[in-house]
Amino acid sequence: MAGRRYLIAGNWKMNGHRSDGVALAADLAQRLAAAGTVPFDMLVCPPATLIAPVADVVKGSPLAVGGQDCHTAVKGAHTGDIAPEMLADLGCTAVIVGHSERRQDHDETDSVVKAKAAAALRAGLTAVICVGETEAERDGGRAEDVVAEQLTGSIPADATAENTVIAYEPVWAIGTGRTPTTADIAAMHAKIRSHLRGLVANSDAVRILYGGSVKPSNAVEIMALADVDGALVGGASLKADDFWAIAASCR
Ligand code: 13P
Repeated sequence: MAGRRYLIAGNWKMNGHRSDGVALAADLAQRLAAAGTVPFDMLVCPPATLIAPVADVVKGSPLAVGGQDCHTAVKGAHTGDIAPEMLADLGCTAVIVGHSERRQDHDETDSVVKAKAAAALRAGLTAVICVGETEAERDGGRAEDVVAEQLTGSIPADATAENTVIAYEPVWAIGTGRTPTTADIAAMHAKIRSHLRGLVANSDAVRILYGGSVKPSNAVEIMALADVDGALVGGASLKADDFWAIAASCR
């Protein structure tokens, strides 16, 4: 933490139809309004189909809305893609880039992720840049090197603590119910923080989120770690009670 404000971000992935997505966002916005002053920012990243209705329903609320991916171009002949400027136009303030599911399913390399992050900054969005090792890489003792290489390759030159958030998501912890030990999370986040010193202006103020099977039952101990500044939550972000309980674990 150390002066950094927590960010609790929900990545809905490819889940939700209009009625349940809008209801979930409205529920969270209502809880935020009722809670008053809280020690965290809250962000939801719905699938592209739900960004407009979700942005509409949370208008005027501190609940922020983001995309899950963006293209590098402002516009043009890119069937199926979405420019970061289009996300901003709907009211988004952030976009996730380089999620491991994008890296896997769409062969996104570090240089693609860097270009997407740069495009996000161009559009005035906060780039939530994801990194994380596979199980084989961790078992091979290469987790820290892999993550350092992803950071170097994925962070654009104009990244600052104000426009960039890092999410550490070990691939093997995503959707599996397994998490690293708190000692391993603490060690990786400290390593990321020190690696950011050469890459991002005002790096000590960059928020580093942990993601991968975060749930109400493990959030308190993870959020208490010195270099953990929030969470990027998948499955548990689809239930208002669970997502709110994770946020409430920020002290
Ligand atoms: P789970 O919380 O479902 O493990 O997903 C994490 C994630 O990938 C968030 O981006």
